[in-house]
Amino acid sequence: MSQTGDETRPSVRHAAPNAERQGDAGAVFAQEGEKGLLKFLTCGSVDDGKSTLIGRLLYDCQLIMEDQLATLESDSRKIGTTGGDLDMALLVDGLQAEREQGITIDVAYRYFTSPQRKFIVADTPGHEQYTRNMATGASACDLAVILVDARKGVLTQTRRHSCIVHLLGIRHVVLAVNKMDQVDYAKERFEAIREEYLGFAEALGIAEITCIPVSALHGDNVANVSHKMDWYHGPSLLAHLETVEVGDAIVDKALRFPVQWVNRPNHEFRGYAGTIVSGRVKVGDEIIVVPSGRLSRVARIVTYDGELESAAAGDAVTLVLADEIDISRGDVIASREARPEIADQVAANVVWMGDEAMHPGRPYLIKCGTRWVSGTVSSLKHKLNVDNLDHMAGRDLELNEVGFCNLSFDRPIAFDPYKENRATGGFIIVDRISNATVGAGMLEFGLRRATNIHWQALDINKGTRAAQKGQRASCIWFTGLSGSGKSTIANLLEKRLHDAGKHTYILDGDNVRHGLNRDLGFTDTDRVENIRRITEVARLMVDAGLIVVVSFISPFRAERRMARELFDESEFLEVFVDTPIEVCEARDPKGLYKKARQGELKNFTGVDSDYELPENAEVVLKGGENTPEQSIELLLEKLRADGTI
Ligand code: ADX
Repeated sequence: MSQTGDETRPSVRHAAPNAERQGDAGAVFAQEGEKGLLKFLTCGSVDDGKSTLIGRLLYDCQLIMEDQLATLESDSRKIGTTGGDLDMALLVDGLQAEREQGITIDVAYRYFTSPQRKFIVADTPGHEQYTRNMATGASACDLAVILVDARKGVLTQTRRHSCIVHLLGIRHVVLAVNKMDQVDYAKERFEAIREEYLGFAEALGIAEITCIPVSALHGDNVANVSHKMDWYHGPSLLAHLETVEVGDAIVDKALRFPVQWVNRPNHEFRGYAGTIVSGRVKVGDEIIVVPSGRLSRVARIVTYDGELESAAAGDAVTLVLADEIDISRGDVIASREARPEIADQVAANVVWMGDEAMHPGRPYLIKCGTRWVSGTVSSLKHKLNVDNLDHMAGRDLELNEVGFCNLSFDRPIAFDPYKENRATGGFIIVDRISNATVGAGMLEFGLRRATNIHWQALDINKGTRAAQKGQRASCIWFTGLSGSGKSTIANLLEKRLHDAGKHTYILDGDNVRHGLNRDLGFTDTDRVENIRRITEVARLMVDAGLIVVVSFISPFRAERRMARELFDESEFLEVFVDTPIEVCEARDPKGLYKKARQGELKNFTGVDSDYELPENAEVVLKGGENTPEQSIELLLEKLRADGTI
């Protein structure tokens, strides 16, 4: 079998980050034998002493190379903040600097080992956008160490970390109350923090919580039990990590194998390559392919090093099936007895990580397993107040907020509820313009919405309706600032088309906002919804065979793109009325710029609300230089050239 013959297949490096990590972990396994592995995550900020704690763990487990130790000692003397002591934070930060010379990754995985166990710690930078990194690191972890500063106690950040850890399915939490040396190792202080935290975490539903008073700086209760806190009778952090039972192994769950790529080097061989994300598989197993529902049997399990009789979660393999069936990238090969759910509408908890807020109705890319789909948050059911776990009403989700949402995808996906299987119940949300990961989701259940509704084929269609009117149906979409002249030009255009015997309709922001969209204001979220509705209305009108003229500020690229994608290419024309804001403001036909400048009108486009310049408008009209009549001539010329009129 040729593993290199297919030039188009994604490289394993990018396509299977889990496999790659598992590979690293595999190396640790090979060296250390079957000692059991604990994957954990640390949450907290640099100020809480996170780097120091990890540094201390590594140091006390004697995992630091000799040359690193020498550097640490001299650096601690030079720039350390700890007097004569070793500055553990320098150790971790030093490793981080090394890491940053290579490819940038959000999460650093450190491997270390003690006589009892092997550990992988997902260390996530503790800066403001921690949720992004936390969610990435946490989804594969069994336990989280949440740090608090003994002087500060439980903060909103502590509660937020705990919420996210819980949502990400981590059932074991250690609250490490750090800097005990700064509070004279006082039992009362520790007890007070412990009580407060337990009250919160138990209400949240975290299964197992262990609170340990530590001083990462001095090594108290980190790897060794401290004599300075003889009132504490529990284990040291390391002892707890070595002995905690996490169970719940991913290999014991149902088989899930998302197909990463179809390996077809020649006509004799067809295999499906990927990483088993949960369960086990052996030759002869009966399987189902979802979402298609086709059935087959595993004929061979092929790997780079030869064929296997069986394989389990974490293994990167190529499965060959007994039957020739149509399977593509993103499909899931699963156990027949325990099938995944299939739905195109789902309910999920979402942790938002985008600098820009999440707006219901805006299209995003969604990646679930190896499948990419396009989707929207159809509604935000509630937001979570991380301080008291109250459900709050809300229109959008801001950076680091958590909400329970309904989502709608353009195709059905196969999934399991996140609680049952973290490997197939999680997804990420990606911004379609910037390609940044802006959200992480945990699927709760599929929604049975409109599943028995099929598109009704009608005898009279868009073509026949337009033909009867002697025209080609189309959507001419005007965008531009308030006062740019959109409505004036759109109005003139409709008149000219009307005079020429065309059947038209004009959708104008100000007018539609009196009726259909009268419930919407001018927040970003409302504008997204405004344009979403108008796009759907325009589509119906084009389907009715009309030439529809749309005149809305439509300030965001994402929604203009959504509008464009709803139409056939030849049906949609974007017209940017490019009038400088100074000109719009000087005209100020409704006196709105004046009000906005005086602070009497909030979220005014161009003043305190964004206008994202069009990048691929078919027509750009210079509203500051040309008269509306001149603009109309340019526009009509384009419409004639395109054959629209
Ligand atoms: S859009 O941004 O959602 O596309 P739309 O085109 O519907 O806006 O409405 C814009 C019109 O509403 C403007 O022409 C103006 O008359 C009026 N308006 C009132 N408040 C605002 C505001 N804060 N920002 C922009 N336009 C406003």
